[in-house]
Amino acid sequence: MKILHTPAELAVWKIAHPDCAFVPTMGNLHAGHVALVEQARLSGLPVIASIFVNPLQFGAGEDFERYPRTFDADCDKLQAAGCSAVFAPSLADMYPQPQTYFVEPPALANELCGKFRPGHFRGMLTVVLKLFNLVQPRVAVFGKKDYQQLALIRSMSEQLNLPIQIQAGETVRAADGLALSSRNDYLTDAERHEATRLYSSLRHIADALNLGRRDFEELEVQALDALYQHGWKVDYISVRRPDLGLPEENDTHFVVLGAAWLGKTRLIDNVETGPIPL
Ligand code: PAF
Repeated sequence: MKILHTPAELAVWKIAHPDCAFVPTMGNLHAGHVALVEQARLSGLPVIASIFVNPLQFGAGEDFERYPRTFDADCDKLQAAGCSAVFAPSLADMYPQPQTYFVEPPALANELCGKFRPGHFRGMLTVVLKLFNLVQPRVAVFGKKDYQQLALIRSMSEQLNLPIQIQAGETVRAADGLALSSRNDYLTDAERHEATRLYSSLRHIADALNLGRRDFEELEVQALDALYQHGWKVDYISVRRPDLGLPEENDTHFVVLGAAWLGKTRLIDNVETGPIPL
């Protein structure tokens, strides 16, 4: 596996690999990222991953500085997963000048997580577009765990006519249901034990929707209360359409999304409606 640090090194690699599949990451990789690489490999194209902790998508007081950086272990995992290359640029390589041009996202970027992380999606979309322009992949794979991120990347790609097929990777969960996330590393043992409640609360709402309930607000409030009672600070619990529009009674498909704090850690998760798991 080639390790490429600069856009110039990447450009040389691209000459030999003009068509590739791309998995952008911020590192601290886990089985969820490995599954995205495996999905990208199904394209039959050489797979390149990127590792870059993007300051533009972190707000003041967020965890940019303490975000775990585990480059050597990440490269081992990418190599074992069959990645052909990793692009790991420095801050100066990605932002040689102060960034003054941005992707201006639609109103959806100010809802759900965007309401609590102002500017996050604008910074995320801007770096994703920069990475797309550098890597010029044919396929790019993003996890459904970051459902709102995926929806915004999809609509950006459509509206800006990017010649890239955006694929969604399923969320990978621990045996107790907790969605794998780099931020799970912040949890204490007691918090890790409690953390699964976010998923079970969302699952509970999805199961109720599958059984025909349509009292969205009541379902959201019940889940909020249960989480508050167990010490969570909830940013939001929201039933949406799969395109993240507001749901209506006659809709048949939904996604239930949530973001909540356990101590100093903010966790997000979502569940799509569908057959109730046995
Ligand atoms: O999901 C992530 O890890 C990041 O938001 C991404 C897409 C790599 C952009 O920095």
